[in-house]
Amino acid sequence: MEGLSFPKDFLWGAATAAHQIEGFNYGSDWYQWEKKGKIKDGSTSEKACLSEKYFMRDIENLTELNMNSYRFSIEWAKIETRKGDFNNKEIERYKKMINELKRRNIEPIVTLFHFSLPQWFSEIGGFSKVENIKFFTNYVHRIVKELKGMVQYYIVINEPMVYLTQGYLFGEWPPGKKDIEETYNVGKNLLMLYDKTYNMIKKMEPYSKISIAKHTSVYEPYSKMSLKDRLATNKIRELFDHTFIDSIREQKILPPFGNKESLEYNSDLDFLGINYYTKRYIKYDKEKKFDIKTKSTHLTDIGWEFYPEGIEDVLERFSKYDIPIMITENGIADADDRYRTRYILVTLEKIHYALKKNIKIIGYMHWSLMDNFEWIEGLSMRFGLYKTDYNNNILTLRNSGEIYSKIANNNYISESFLKFIK
Ligand code: FCB
Repeated sequence: MEGLSFPKDFLWGAATAAHQIEGFNYGSDWYQWEKKGKIKDGSTSEKACLSEKYFMRDIENLTELNMNSYRFSIEWAKIETRKGDFNNKEIERYKKMINELKRRNIEPIVTLFHFSLPQWFSEIGGFSKVENIKFFTNYVHRIVKELKGMVQYYIVINEPMVYLTQGYLFGEWPPGKKDIEETYNVGKNLLMLYDKTYNMIKKMEPYSKISIAKHTSVYEPYSKMSLKDRLATNKIRELFDHTFIDSIREQKILPPFGNKESLEYNSDLDFLGINYYTKRYIKYDKEKKFDIKTKSTHLTDIGWEFYPEGIEDVLERFSKYDIPIMITENGIADADDRYRTRYILVTLEKIHYALKKNIKIIGYMHWSLMDNFEWIEGLSMRFGLYKTDYNNNILTLRNSGEIYSKIANNNYISESFLKFIK
């Protein structure tokens, strides 16, 4: 058996989001949500991993992991605490962090909107109102101006479809709406927001590479024998995985978000951010139209099917866009670290074979650098390469993290690691 090598400039990274790691995000809609008792395990993000204070510790850990890239987000709620009130101290903190990353040759990959929003923005209707888009672009304008020449990769929106469904369809996340028309309307607004933001950043930073991080899954009919399940599966796959991207690519607001109205600016995806975690089974349902199911007996801590090999299907499917792909998230909730190594190795093996088939993949960001605040699931879901002890805030590298660091360092998966998954 031979080892597997990766391209010379391959980006090896880890991913986080500000609200999930920094702590003290009191001005955010999410913190208000947590205070209402919406988190399953009763925890809050109040301290999280204290990364607002200890970002240098996080960078040390990235160095220990041999990472040459880091995906993180900037927290709008901390930057613009009240409408028009920018917090220079916070801007300086992010600058300091990015400077340090660059000093260590770690490429910063900056997410501008990763689920959490300023509470004041939410109170004026958030992304439900088309006239509110300007508040977002105003914040982004300030950030990109401040970071001029420092950042190459911008991710404007993290998982727009997850944000839409959780916040506006199922009502489990802020703003807690359950309204299908509103869901589509916000989808339309997010498309317009992307279009405008892309155009603005491009003007300010012509060499930047701009995208979204698209949530993807493998979708299979719950019963292969059922025509209704099969049809529902195809529909869901299109809607959840492709319509948002197709709209940007075709520069039209496609149904169900719109009526094929043209987007106003000339936006595109300079690379394609892909988040992949699991496989979902779709079952037709008379009332709800569809139901999302699991089947396997091997579910991860969060109840998602253990299915790392599914990345192969996703890479094949998204290669049709002919845009370089960056895996912007991929990982597993596994408190005991029993399956994470296998998960990573199977995924990387599939990426290697996709590269061999000439699918252009520029990097892999593992979710997450350390255990953190997993939204509605709270602190108990553990996705980290580092284990977080929330009592004393000591971070400990997991065995899987050590293996990942060796692969990143060698740009190569050795035979001895591969034996592990045979
Ligand atoms: C993704 C989110 C990320 C994290 C992982 C587990 O949907 O983008 O913030 O919560 O799931």
